[in-house]
Amino acid sequence: MRRDVRILLLGEAQVGKTSLILALVGEEFPQEVPARAEEITIPADVTPERVPTHIVDSSEAEQSAEELQEEIHKANVVCMVYDVSEEVTIEKIRTKWIPLVNAGTERGPRLPIILVGNKSDLRPGSSLEAVLPIMSQFPEIETCVECSAKSLRNVSELFYYAQKAVLHPTAPLYDTEAKQLRPACVQALTRVFTLWDQDLDQVLSDEELNAFQASCFGRPLAPQALEDVKMVVCRNVANGVRDNGLTLDGFLFLNTLFVQRGRHETTWTILRHCGYGDDLQLTDDYLFPPLLVPPGCSTELSHLGHQFVQRAFEKHDQDRDGALSPAELQSLFSVFPEAPWGPGLPGSIRTEAGHLGLRGYLCQWALVTYLDVHRCLGHLGYLGYPTLCGPNSQAQAITGGCPSPSPGAIPWPVMPSPSLVLAVTREKRLDQEKGQTQRNVLLCKVLGAAGVGKSAFLQAFLGRGLGHPETPEEPPAYAVDIVQVHGQDKYLILCEVSPEGPLDASCDVACLLFDSTDPVSFAHCAHLYKRHYMDGQTPCLFISSKADLLGGAAGPGLAPAEFCHRHRLPAPTPFSCAGPGPPNPAAFSRLAAMAAFPHLLQAEPGPSCPWLWGLLGVMGAAMVAVLGFSLFRVLRSR
Ligand code: GTP
Ligand code: MG
Repeated sequence: MRRDVRILLLGEAQVGKTSLILALVGEEFPQEVPARAEEITIPADVTPERVPTHIVDSSEAEQSAEELQEEIHKANVVCMVYDVSEEVTIEKIRTKWIPLVNAGTERGPRLPIILVGNKSDLRPGSSLEAVLPIMSQFPEIETCVECSAKSLRNVSELFYYAQKAVLHPTAPLYDTEAKQLRPACVQALTRVFTLWDQDLDQVLSDEELNAFQASCFGRPLAPQALEDVKMVVCRNVANGVRDNGLTLDGFLFLNTLFVQRGRHETTWTILRHCGYGDDLQLTDDYLFPPLLVPPGCSTELSHLGHQFVQRAFEKHDQDRDGALSPAELQSLFSVFPEAPWGPGLPGSIRTEAGHLGLRGYLCQWALVTYLDVHRCLGHLGYLGYPTLCGPNSQAQAITGGCPSPSPGAIPWPVMPSPSLVLAVTREKRLDQEKGQTQRNVLLCKVLGAAGVGKSAFLQAFLGRGLGHPETPEEPPAYAVDIVQVHGQDKYLILCEVSPEGPLDASCDVACLLFDSTDPVSFAHCAHLYKRHYMDGQTPCLFISSKADLLGGAAGPGLAPAEFCHRHRLPAPTPFSCAGPGPPNPAAFSRLAAMAAFPHLLQAEPGPSCPWLWGLLGVMGAAMVAVLGFSLFRVLRSR
């Protein structure tokens, strides 16, 4: 909504423009008036819409044509004044003043116009008959009001209408020629309807209508008012009410009625509450509230964020089979301008025979939140997070949420503008120092020479062995799934790193993949390890792929097991994604555990110790730090 309003009065000489302005300000008819009144500004707190309003007079005798054009250019709305007792001044509105304001299209959208018939004290009847043809000829005319500067009739009203024409314009909502809501308005109201149709039964029940009403207007409807609304709809729209609830047709009809009866502010209040700007697009403020992510910290959905996206899943899983079919997914995405995850199902997550299960769905959210938190905020916005959970609240859906207010600070809900919000997981450096992470989403980079099976490894993570029918044609660079680490669910993101090009080695765990039949591919990994990880703190796991095939001839340098032993790395883990069943997930659990408890595995000597992991599973995460420390001491003493 605009933050101020500029009203310009235009019209023939002597119609009473200056008198109207002075009558408004002085609350009495001015006997003596100058040719042109000074510009006046009415402060926000005394205007009905609480917006500062500038009122600008004009006078052909005092102003050149250029000066007049400049004022028209600056105005947000024009009050075109005529004298009800002088027909010729009405005719000039059509022939001179409207063309002067809105001739040509180079100024973009047309300025709204209020027709003002002044000196109504001089004429007993109404001038409406003469004015109606003009109103139907020019759709930019918002309304017509008859008034009198002398008797003060309708003087303040006309300025209120002018203000309203700017703050709650008709043009974006309603096509006055076709006498119906514009397509963009229908689209926006349809999203609003879907947001509030909690059970997705295509009608707003009394409960849903009340929740909607309370959220948009601050109070629920009285039971009788609710019945009256439905009655009006029922009488006018054949299928406006079904099962005692309001259908989308009924909801659109009600809004059409608001606009036609000059109550646009009602529809605008609904639309603005649901994030729309004057152009009927969701505003950037709504979709992308400020969010500060300090370097070294990652982003993930908070508990609130999880709850919200899970509720959206459950709402659209209409057949309650725990998965979204293509049609159900389309219904979920109906409030987005386009499918946010691309046309098909993402290849980076688990799918169930073309359907999207909750696990894959949550993984996709985890991936988007981790890789592109800005986009994630936008997605939450389209799903109505700020409308349903409170204005500027998306940041609370991200881990870290908003910082707790310092003593004496204004509490969050009444902050005048969204402050920068810290979305922090603990810095990775601190995680590494503490030997464990509080983060739930962990990044594993999968490195290795060309052809070692990196893409196959990523797909195997999603339960797809070689030749699995759901393997995407284009191998995606990411695969994400939920892995249990000592009884806790962690999202593990595998990121395939191309062997060409510069390498950003940072991650929670590095997976160095080599082909067990190709010694050169091991040499490649050994080189990567020495170059990027040997002196750092990132845990590394060597994995020998294609373990189902026979081992190749020994290559140059140390054998893989010997190399790992020398560098105090876990022994290479054999892996294969060939065979009839789903691939063995042990390697992935191992990577997730290393990412979550980096210190522990760094110190592990030689071959892995399965008993240790079994023990950890029993003792739980709380004991891990202590155990890690004891192990560390044992190793040191050795
Ligand atoms: P210009 O500055 O010449 O363009 O004229 P204007 O449109 O500003 O008109 P102005 O306010 O100077 O009023 C013109 C004459 O009409 C004055 O004599 C006013 O007293 C008179 N007048 C203005 N409003 C009314 C009204 O509501 N009723 C009656 N009876 N006379 C009015
Ligand atoms: Mg004047």
